[in-house]
Amino acid sequence: MAEQSSNPQRMSLPDGVVPEEVVARTEMRWLIVMGAVLLLMITVIVVTAIMGALQPSSNVEVIDPTTLHLGGEFVESNLGTAIEPDGSVTVRLIGEQYEFVPSCVQVPVGAPVKFRLTSADVVHGFLLPDTNVNTMVVPGFVAEVRTYFSRAGDYSMPCHEFCGLGHHAMWAHVRVVPREQFEKAYGNRRPTAIGRITCATQ
Ligand code: CUA
Repeated sequence: MAEQSSNPQRMSLPDGVVPEEVVARTEMRWLIVMGAVLLLMITVIVVTAIMGALQPSSNVEVIDPTTLHLGGEFVESNLGTAIEPDGSVTVRLIGEQYEFVPSCVQVPVGAPVKFRLTSADVVHGFLLPDTNVNTMVVPGFVAEVRTYFSRAGDYSMPCHEFCGLGHHAMWAHVRVVPREQFEKAYGNRRPTAIGRITCATQ
């Protein structure tokens, strides 16, 4: 055993006790590691937000959720896909426990698409995987997301905000079809709403 010094600061520590400077050095290393992880996460968020054209909700647009069905933009006959005079597409949807109305929308490839959504009851989520579409659908507000589909295909549209017991079953679909097919089916009905199609039968 080492000889004990009379100076208490120089006394050797009992077995199992780690010297203070070793503890401080280890903590500093972990602090640097955590700082680097934090910095990396912030960088990833900023880069993906810019590169993925994510759109933080900036347009505060209010709407009365109790009168959606009585008139205005979200009245039933106005839901679904509508072609604007400039050729762009607007899709209007309502989220409610536990479905999106309409549950299937069709849009053409290559056109600017604007989704406008609101909720009739509680907070829902609207997400199109592999696109920049990802927004909360809050009762009392209109959520607007702009996107563009570069190829045809079916996109699932899950509600990704827990909204009650049926949340897991709240799914809808976006079907992206070639422009010609879209024009052929709906070309002469612009710019009225052309919702209420069934993805399963097409
Ligand atoms: Cu709607 Cu979860």
